[in-house]
Amino acid sequence: MDALPTKISLAERLSAITGLEYQIVWKVVFYSLSVILGWQLVQYLRLVFRSDLKHIPGPRWARLTAFWRPWVLRKGEAPEIYCDLHQKYGPLVRTAPGVVSVSDPKAIPIIYGIGTKFYKSMFYSIFDVAYQGTWMSSMFSVRDSAQHAALRRPVAQKFSMSSMKALEPFADECNEIFINAMKELEGQKVDLSTWLQWYAFDVISAITFHRRFGFMEERRDVENMIEDISQGLVAAAAVSQVPGLHPWLMGSSWLPKLLAAQPFFRAPDPLRTVVRFTEDCIAEYDRNPPSADRPDFMSWLRQVNIKGETMSDPDFVNHLSNNLLAGSDTTAISLRAVLYFLVQNPECYRKAQAEVDEADNAGKLSACVSYAECLQLPYLQAVMKEAMRCHPGVSYPLERVVPRGGADIGGVHLMEGTIVGVNPAVIHRDTSIFGDDALSFSPERWLTGDEERTKFMDRHLMTNLHREKHLDYGDGKTHSAALASL
Ligand code: HEM
Repeated sequence: MDALPTKISLAERLSAITGLEYQIVWKVVFYSLSVILGWQLVQYLRLVFRSDLKHIPGPRWARLTAFWRPWVLRKGEAPEIYCDLHQKYGPLVRTAPGVVSVSDPKAIPIIYGIGTKFYKSMFYSIFDVAYQGTWMSSMFSVRDSAQHAALRRPVAQKFSMSSMKALEPFADECNEIFINAMKELEGQKVDLSTWLQWYAFDVISAITFHRRFGFMEERRDVENMIEDISQGLVAAAAVSQVPGLHPWLMGSSWLPKLLAAQPFFRAPDPLRTVVRFTEDCIAEYDRNPPSADRPDFMSWLRQVNIKGETMSDPDFVNHLSNNLLAGSDTTAISLRAVLYFLVQNPECYRKAQAEVDEADNAGKLSACVSYAECLQLPYLQAVMKEAMRCHPGVSYPLERVVPRGGADIGGVHLMEGTIVGVNPAVIHRDTSIFGDDALSFSPERWLTGDEERTKFMDRHLMTNLHREKHLDYGDGKTHSAALASL
C-alpha cells in the first residue's frame, strides 16, 4: 500500500485503508456510534424502570443518575445523610439507578454471612494499587472470591491472634513515645486527634515494616503522607460512588502522571505514595536482611518466600501496602472515637479510669498494658466497642453485588447484579437492636449480663466483619481486641 499523506482526517484515513468512499466511512462511523449510544440508553432506561427497583423509594434524582450520591456526599456527612435517608424512606432506599442502601437487620447475614455469594462491588476497586504499571486488587478490595481466597491463604495465619501478640512490642515502643510526648506537653494545648493519627500510622508501619514513619518523633506529617491519604480519601469517597469513572481518573495510567508533572499545584497520589514507601522498606530490608525471627509482616512474608512457598513481588507489595491503606486511618478513627466519647462522657471516663487504677494497684498491669491484661478490663472493653458502634471507622455502605438468581432483601426480590449495602453508621443506630438509647454513648449496654441480648447486638455490630471474613484478631474479639492491644 502507498504511504498515506500525513495531514488527512480520520475519515479520509479510514477511507484510504478500507478502500471505501469517504462519505460511506462517515456514515458507518455515525451509525456505529448511534447504535452504541442507543444501546447504552436502552440499558439505562431498563435499569431506571426495572420492575424490582422502580417501587423502592428514594430521592428522585438518585433513581435517575449515579451522580446524585457524590453530589450529596461531597461535604463528608455520609453517616447523617444515610441515617436521614432511611428515616425518611424506610429499610430500602434507592440511592442510584442500580444501587440500594439497606437498613433491614435481617439482611446482614444474607449479605455478609459466612459462605455468602454476595461479592464486593466496584466501590472497592478504587483501593486497588498500581505496582510496576499493573493494577492489583488487595485483600480489602478484591471482588472475586477465588482471587480473594488465593490472596488470603498465605497471610491468614499472620493475622491470627498468636501472630498479633508477637507484634505487641512494636505498639509498646509507640506507646512510650506517645506517653513521653504527652508528659512533655503537659499544660499546653494538644491536638489529640492529630497525635492519635500519628500514633496509629506509626504503629501500623512498625508492625508491617519494622520501621515507624516517625510522625510522633518528628511531630509532623512526614512526607505529607497523612495529608495525602486524607485528601485522597475525600476524592476516593466521591469517585467510589461512581466507580465507573475511576479507570478514567486516578485509575488511569496517564492522569496521575499528568498531575504529577504539572507545575501549578501539588496533587496528592496516596496509593502511589504508599506503594513507594513500601518499595523503599523492602529495598532496605533486602540490603540489610534482619535475623530470621524478627516479628513483623515484612519478615513473615519474606520468610514464606525463602521456604519455597512463593510469594511474588507484586503480592508482597500488595499485602504490605494494604496494611497501611486498610489499617492506619481506620485505627486512627477508632482511637479518636474512644477518646472523644470518654471526654464527652466524664462519668464513663471516671469508671474506665477507676477500673484501670484498681487493676494497676492490684499489680495486674504491666508498665505497657498488654493485650491479655486489657481483656481483663471489661469496662474499657465495653468503652471501645461502644465507641466503634457510635462512630464506625467505615461509614459508607459496604457494597455487595446480588448474586445469580437474585435475592430477597427487605421484602423485595432484587435481581442479580443489583448493588446493595448496609451502612454501619445506620445499623449501629437502630433502636430495635441497640435499644431506645441507641443514639447515646453507653458502654453499660454491653455489660447488662444478659448474654442473649449482648450476642444479638454483637451480631449486628459491623466492626465484627473482620471476624466474619476470618481475618480474625482472635477469640471473636475482633477490632476492640486489636485496639486494646495498642
Ligand atoms: C479499628 C480499626 C479498623 C476498622 C474499623 C476496620 C474496618 C474494616 C471493615 C469494616 C472491613 C470490612 C470491609 C468490607 O468487607 O466491606 C475491613 C476489612 C479489612 N481490614 Fe480492617 N479495619 C480496622 C483495622 C485494620 C487493620 C489494623 C488492618 C491490617 C493491619 C486491617 C486490614 C483489613 C483487611 C485486609 C480487610 C479485608 C478483609 C477481607 O475481606 O478478607 N484492618 N476492615
